[in-house]
Amino acid sequence: MMPSVHVSRHPLVLHKLALLRSRTTEPITFRRLVHEITQLLFYELTHDLKLEPVTVQTPLAECAGSQIAEKIGLMPILRAGLGMAEAIHDMIPSAQVWHLGLYRDHETLQPVTYYNKLPPEPSVQVALIVDPMLATGGSAIAAVDILKRWGLHRLKFLGLIAAPEGVEALRAAHPDVPIYLAAIDSHLDERKYIVPGLGDAGDRQFGTSKI
Ligand code: PRP
Ligand code: URA
Repeated sequence: MMPSVHVSRHPLVLHKLALLRSRTTEPITFRRLVHEITQLLFYELTHDLKLEPVTVQTPLAECAGSQIAEKIGLMPILRAGLGMAEAIHDMIPSAQVWHLGLYRDHETLQPVTYYNKLPPEPSVQVALIVDPMLATGGSAIAAVDILKRWGLHRLKFLGLIAAPEGVEALRAAHPDVPIYLAAIDSHLDERKYIVPGLGDAGDRQFGTSKI
């Protein structure tokens, strides 16, 4: 089974992505853009959520409607995934949020888990891992491994920018997990940063950039 890789071609996403990448974009605008692009991608990603019928009373009459029938879990990879999780949580307030702290060891470039806030057992139907950057893929693969070991198998990954190397690694490790993105860039540099990318997504959201 090959997973699908969806790269948005929506004009609003592309316009906002260019603003997000710019080195002159300040953290307050950067966070707003992360929020907006995430909500646009989330709209595309949720096209297959199951619905159930619901009846509502308008001021004039009874009306047949629909409501989402599935419970959703959100796993933001700290810290850069926080802004994305907040954007989705605003749209689906009933979602569970499970923070996962991972950082890339600067020597080995392997993900190291430092925080995991999963409840004892899953009680949702579908889970979404959110992280703006899919670089080597190590962090995303580790997050999927953790969720599958926990017992959840209907998973999707939502990122903003990926390197081809990260997409291939995640596809190879987890061929059943669909990947949703705003862009796939050219390559990784020697420090495993995405080129052209946007720099360090955590630093740019939280104002800790050195440059
Ligand atoms: C970044 C990013 C991903 C990871 C991607 O986090 O937000 O989690 O790197 O790299 P990978 O695909 O090679 O694993 P970082 O380790 O910089 O931590 P931070 O969010 O705390 O800044
Ligand atoms: N993490 C980031 O924040 N940016 C990259 O380009 C790669 C990993």
